[in-house]
Amino acid sequence: MTKPTLLMTGVYPDADMAALAADYDIIKLWEAADKDAVLADVGPRVRALATRGDLGASADLIGKLPALEMIGCFGVGTDGIDRSATRPRGIKISNTPDVLTEDVADLALALMLAVARKMVRGDAYTRDGSWAKGNMELVTRVNGKRLGIVGLGRIGKAIARRAAAFNMAVAYYGRHKQQDVDFSYHANLAELARNSDFLVAIVPGGAATNSLITADVLKALGPDGYFINVARGTVVDEEALLAALETRSINAAGLDVFLNEPNINPRFAALDNVVLHPHHGSGTVETRRAMGQLVRDNLAAHFAGKPLLTEVE
Ligand code: NAP
Ligand code: 8YV
Repeated sequence: MTKPTLLMTGVYPDADMAALAADYDIIKLWEAADKDAVLADVGPRVRALATRGDLGASADLIGKLPALEMIGCFGVGTDGIDRSATRPRGIKISNTPDVLTEDVADLALALMLAVARKMVRGDAYTRDGSWAKGNMELVTRVNGKRLGIVGLGRIGKAIARRAAAFNMAVAYYGRHKQQDVDFSYHANLAELARNSDFLVAIVPGGAATNSLITADVLKALGPDGYFINVARGTVVDEEALLAALETRSINAAGLDVFLNEPNINPRFAALDNVVLHPHHGSGTVETRRAMGQLVRDNLAAHFAGKPLLTEVE
């Protein structure tokens, strides 16, 4: 039987590439010297697209795939997939929720600790001989402080569980007050920031959250406040964030996501009050194995005529 043609926008882990090659006629778009030529040639026979949360799928790409039935996303965030192109054609989308929740929450806490305890500086201080000249400056406690979570969803709640173990006071912002949680709800984001020592962004990307974290929110967080972003680069006004860091109107930031990844604004690299991380919240062997399996299970369900395991609107 002819294998369905699967277009891939970016590489998956080796085990997934091998498993997919066994079941699909794979087209590796990222390897194409002339992507448009490849799409003109194979586009008409592509039935499924495998992308990633950081890569998405544009309306232009989707428009070149007239036989496209389904998009599998290696990631939970599907903001990069243009719904204006999928909805009218009934193209199904799957993602990889839950299997990555705990690792991303771990990274959020890791960034909080790395920034407040100045661990990157401490490593350098120990390596370069500075310690022989005297002790490093005192840093900031995390345990017992106030944590504001912007987006108390799957990952946000996992962050809150970790914060509870650190005896932190947890509050949150979202579109809705959640009845089944005991944390303080703030309908106003600046008010949450004003009452937080650490503000963690973990909302989805996309138009509705574009620049949700504004200059005013960062001002409300204040010169003793820390901003952590494990959501999307788009959820913060990045120019305002850079200015706040450069003028120290916020204390510091821990960032896993940025605009224009991986070619982020070079101003970040000049700062000593930021910990930079390469969009790797889900980047553990265990989680990526589970994400790849879930993408493949969704593809297999589709081609077996069954409901997707994790379909998104
Ligand atoms: P989720 O369970 O859907 O949670 C999203 C939360 O955001 C919900 O609490 C929701 O609450 C809130 N929200 C949604 N739209 C909002 C809006 N317009 N304004 C304010 N709050 C809004 O999603 P998740 O599984 O926690 O994942 C969240 C995001 O994390 C993903 O979409 C992705 O962008 C990012 N992520 C990053 C990494 C990484 O490597 N750094 C890895 C995985 C995921 P309400 O409905 O009450 O507003
Ligand atoms: C990326 C993420 O998708 O799940 C998400 O939304 O942001 C990440 O898990 C991952 O880096 C895959 O490339």
